[in-house]
Amino acid sequence: MFAGRPAATVGGVTHVLVTGGAGFIGSQVTAALLAAGHQVRVLDCAHPAAHSGPPPGDVHGVPVLRADVRDRAAVAGALHEVDAVVHQAAMVGMGVDLDDLPEYVGCNDLGTAVLLAEMARRGVHRLVLASSMVVYGEGAYTCPEHGSTRPAARQVAALAAGRFEPACPACGRDLTPVLVDEDAALDPRSVYAATKLAQEHLSAAWARQTGGSVAALRYHNVYGPGMPKDTPYSGVAAIFRSALEAGRAPRVFEDGGQRRDFVHVSDVARANLAALDATAGRPAGFRAYNVASGRPATVGEMAAALAEAFGGLRPVVTGEFRLGDVRHITASSARATAELGFTAATDLRTGVAEFATAALRG
Ligand code: UD1
Repeated sequence: MFAGRPAATVGGVTHVLVTGGAGFIGSQVTAALLAAGHQVRVLDCAHPAAHSGPPPGDVHGVPVLRADVRDRAAVAGALHEVDAVVHQAAMVGMGVDLDDLPEYVGCNDLGTAVLLAEMARRGVHRLVLASSMVVYGEGAYTCPEHGSTRPAARQVAALAAGRFEPACPACGRDLTPVLVDEDAALDPRSVYAATKLAQEHLSAAWARQTGGSVAALRYHNVYGPGMPKDTPYSGVAAIFRSALEAGRAPRVFEDGGQRRDFVHVSDVARANLAALDATAGRPAGFRAYNVASGRPATVGEMAAALAEAFGGLRPVVTGEFRLGDVRHITASSARATAELGFTAATDLRTGVAEFATAALRG
């Protein structure tokens, strides 16, 4: 069964399967698809890494088919009469430790493999894939002497000494961060990042073999209402918000000067809609897009804005560091604007003011 308004045609799509449609981003994507007149089906396993409470029975009135994307029979059933898939189901974040490794690979890569195999079998040729900026590793940098460069991973000794800026591999000087575009070299630096890049590679291979069309959306740091509370799988915005709610000060690692692009979940949902339309009338193949606000901020700035909007304790800059973290990663959104007609509508100040009091997921 599908749910949605009956007279539905936007970009020629009528029937869309959203995997992970009960999650933080997936539920907003579902809402955006419904609002645009699409017929939507939701598949979600209510994975415990994302859902601590009971799974929802429906998402904006769409019943949730509760099944794992690795369940071939369930996926085959969910694809019945589907024109396109928006694949959000994934395990995100840094995780607890390497015990998480099989589950990351299982959910993200085996799950995607099962989905692609069933799409091929059923002749479903259009896919929007939720990817991530983590596929880049460190962002793009320039050296005053050596120009455009990509630094190696930061060393413990440098971080422990408070030297947080990556150094030029040729001369050791501090580098200047610049916006990363989709043609940048890919350098996944965590298990999660490796699984997201494998999803991209699998779907690119699928597109080549089936003549299918894939738009892979490399999300930057997504935040907004419905974000899961602080868990080992949460991003920094949820961690800061949960700390404020518990009466604690947000703990800002390093010196707070690390740069990210915080993009509001409603903009991410709109990007999915635009990407779905784009997969309709264009040549087969794989195309990646940064999904970002286009307005970078430091983690320290975000923490301060959130604490102020919440009316809580001011952030503390701790100097702590996590070895897996990259220093700066901020994106050019030029390709998404040119090819998808997407630009983010919510600026950080407005988004954070709303996020400060919005309900989080339990
Ligand atoms: C995050 C997500 C990643 C997602 C990506 C794009 C996590 C762990 N990472 O990557 O899954 O694909 O955005 O949407 O979910 N920090 C603090 N204090 C804290 C926690 C973190 O200052 O309590 C700092 C970190 O050191 C880092 C920055 O905040 O510099 C961002 O951290 P985080 O959101 O965890 O990871 P990203 O690498 O940005």
